[in-house]
Amino acid sequence: MKGKKILIVGSGGREHALAWKIAQSPLCSRLYVAPGNAGTEKWNVPVQANDIQGLLQFAKGEAVDLTVVGPEEPLSLGIVDAFEAEGLTVFGPSEKAASLESSKAFAKAVMKEAQVPTAEYEVFSSLEKARQYIEKKGAPIVIKADGLAAGKGVIVAASQEEALQGLENVMGGAFGAAGQKVVIEEYLEGQEVSLLCFCDGTTALPMVAVQDHKRALDGDRGLNTGGMGTYTPPPFWTKELETEVMNKIALPTLALMRNQGTPFKGVLFLGLMITAHGPKLLEYNVRFGDPETQVILPVLESDLVPILEACTQGRLAETECRWLKDTAICVVMAAPGYPQSYAKGIEISLPAISSSQEMVFHAGTSTSDDGRLVSTGGRVLGVVGKGDSLSAARETAYNLVQRISFPGAHYRTDIGWQGLSSKSN
Ligand code: AMP
Ligand code: GLY
Repeated sequence: MKGKKILIVGSGGREHALAWKIAQSPLCSRLYVAPGNAGTEKWNVPVQANDIQGLLQFAKGEAVDLTVVGPEEPLSLGIVDAFEAEGLTVFGPSEKAASLESSKAFAKAVMKEAQVPTAEYEVFSSLEKARQYIEKKGAPIVIKADGLAAGKGVIVAASQEEALQGLENVMGGAFGAAGQKVVIEEYLEGQEVSLLCFCDGTTALPMVAVQDHKRALDGDRGLNTGGMGTYTPPPFWTKELETEVMNKIALPTLALMRNQGTPFKGVLFLGLMITAHGPKLLEYNVRFGDPETQVILPVLESDLVPILEACTQGRLAETECRWLKDTAICVVMAAPGYPQSYAKGIEISLPAISSSQEMVFHAGTSTSDDGRLVSTGGRVLGVVGKGDSLSAARETAYNLVQRISFPGAHYRTDIGWQGLSSKSN
């Protein structure tokens, strides 16, 4: 059988993890990453992830067999529609289906119609009406900008003053057009967990569950970030909980999207809160998570390529997806200052990797003209340890962090704390 040419779109840690996994597939004869980072250097092509026409020309010119889209931006710009119109195979949702992430108001309307358990909410375009609603409901309360705001458009307000201040910021232009409409919703308490599912429009296959650490500082303090680390599996996650989430959330969503004529294929990422009243959906994302992917793919035993292809061909029901029993932890090493303004161009030196239990996925890195590895972004490296227990995986990951030279690097020292504080680990 002829090997496949596969193009990955994006340049983060998620895309390095995808490239690492896909490069191991006997089905892949040629890999490209556009534009990639220093970790994916041997596969990189100089086309930006939001340059849909440039990517299309490249994929046609090289006769790429499968394109895998990492970030949300090209999806919300319609990359899947553009590729499919030219007869190219692409893994990801259409522009319309991607609205599950690009519009929080659309996402909440889908949840309501599909009877997915979620926080009670109202949508407002008028600042005055939104203010009255907050005054009526009181705190704690949650305010979300409708559009894409790079994960920063959500305010979890502990007091009414904080809520009103947050509302003024969001609707007053802090998030541009994304904040013209807001969703205001009930505050939910519980354990937060991400469940990502492979989808082919009809069938959904869950991946292993992951806990992310969004706050910048140890003890879940400090500012919200794109994610400072992840681990899998959370000790409270059970087969019963997975079945409940699939039956009450993933499958009703897929059925509704299909019935509306916008079937969902790609990765449906469920951001869940496990409350005292069962699992509730906080949000959908329409892509692999970052840094969730950096712990999910190291424990995926199956070849990823046939699964991605099955999603694009509506054959997921007959496709096998096996997982290792291992635990994995990813510690994000960020530039000093992140998530606020941070330095770039810091020189990094990586140690030799001594076992298959250790991995370093690059995010904001590049190679300078004189061949040095330097930082170019906020989140710079995802340092992964694998093991047969959470404590073993954690020790491996932090041991590797200690061997990396990255002056001033900021990272959390407590990734996996929720899992480690439970007795079984
Ligand atoms: P989202 O982008 O909707 O996932 O929100 C970002 C973060 O805000 C989530 O990861 C939660 O930690 C928090 N959050 C969002 N919605 C709620 C809610 N209704 N109740 C409590 N926390 C929330
Ligand atoms: N780690 C959360 C996300 O990818 O949106």
